[in-house]
Amino acid sequence: MNYVTDNLKGNGMSANINRKNENLAHQKCGQNTIAARYGINSDTSYGAVIPPLYLSSNFAFTGLGKKGKYDYTRTGNPTRDQLAGALSALEGGTGAVITSSGMSAAHLVTQLLNPGDVLIAPHDCYGGCHRLLSAASAKNQFELKWVPLWETGNAIKAIQRHVPAMLWIETPSNPLLRITDIKALASAAHAVGAIVVVDNTFLSPAGQQPIGLGADIVLHSTTKYINGHSDVVGGAVVAANPDLLEQLSWWANCLGLTGAPFDAYQALRGLRTLGVRYEQHQSSAGQIARYLDQKDGVSRVYYPGLTNHQGHHLARRQQKGYGAMISFELDVPLEGVQVFLHTLELFTLAESLGGVESLVAHPASMTHAAMSEADQQKAGISSKLLRLSVGIEETQDLLADLEAGFTSLEEWQRDSNSKDDDGSPISSKSAVG
Ligand SMILES: Cc1ncc(COP(=O)(O)O)c(C=O)c1O
Repeated sequence: MNYVTDNLKGNGMSANINRKNENLAHQKCGQNTIAARYGINSDTSYGAVIPPLYLSSNFAFTGLGKKGKYDYTRTGNPTRDQLAGALSALEGGTGAVITSSGMSAAHLVTQLLNPGDVLIAPHDCYGGCHRLLSAASAKNQFELKWVPLWETGNAIKAIQRHVPAMLWIETPSNPLLRITDIKALASAAHAVGAIVVVDNTFLSPAGQQPIGLGADIVLHSTTKYINGHSDVVGGAVVAANPDLLEQLSWWANCLGLTGAPFDAYQALRGLRTLGVRYEQHQSSAGQIARYLDQKDGVSRVYYPGLTNHQGHHLARRQQKGYGAMISFELDVPLEGVQVFLHTLELFTLAESLGGVESLVAHPASMTHAAMSEADQQKAGISSKLLRLSVGIEETQDLLADLEAGFTSLEEWQRDSNSKDDDGSPISSKSAVG
């Protein structure tokens, strides 16, 4: 089934409407046009400009053995297919499966592996994916090799040595924003017959289109930038070819991993503004990264837009911009990290990323808590590491909020030093005197 071209046919759409969507799908239009217009004006019942939401769990047969395009929502649903078509068009795929979460998208992809198959994955990937891949390999669903994929030369050697059935890339990686060379590794992986999967959650199709660089499958947590409003948990798997799409669709239906129509409706609504949101997100992120980079008390900043970042040149080549995720290490003990976090008002301490609101997370105890301390250390995740998801608030307000955090931190440090000096807390009065 081709979701991009087929999804509108079954409902009696006019040839004109199908042609309109195909034109968008084949990228005769720019990304923002595709996002804003996919499925618009496709309703033939009432001429609704925005495609309607089909919540129905089932669809009537026209007679015995005469099923229409849809019969049961776990298997297929028109609203879900609208989102699938739009995402596939944006990623340059053949079609997509919309899942109930990013993790169910990841789980779905692992169904393509058989016992004995080798999967190569980066050990600094999202903590939930790390947990899933570790747990599934522990049950012998496949053999797992963790490889630092940002070291291109070594990664290619590992691919040649282990001959994987699948290569799993996450770039930029979560939380250290390491950049992996998709084109070089996809070419090495294809040479040994591997399927190349790229988790594109951190950039979204607005920032990176892995299929054009050689990926066979693109995975998304649509919870993040695609929906963009922190009110849906969802996922997507975009396939580059019909054979993979068929296998993925089969497993999604078999395991019941497909997403709810309402969530797909919301995510498509969010997707419509992805491009403009992304520009604002990353414009602020660039300024915040530079601010942090020169700030006393920050020992390290991880942002691909900084020239001292490991993957800066590759990111310039491979991505559109540098995204809006920044990680940094505070040069203070955990208590100081708490003081800093406590002062922030415009960065909410919360899991997740990619929404219009700015967030701050402590990966070691939050997003990557599923990894053992040893695995965290191997991946470079320290207890002093904080991760920002930069929202679309005014940049100056975000900078002022961080500055307030650093001011509190300096005061706390001065207080702690004074305590260290004479063993007792001192008041500001005695400090002056
Ligand atoms: C890179 C990445 N992939 C996958 C996921 C899983 O997505 P979800 O939380 O929607 O299940 C996340 C979640 O944070 C993520 O950051």
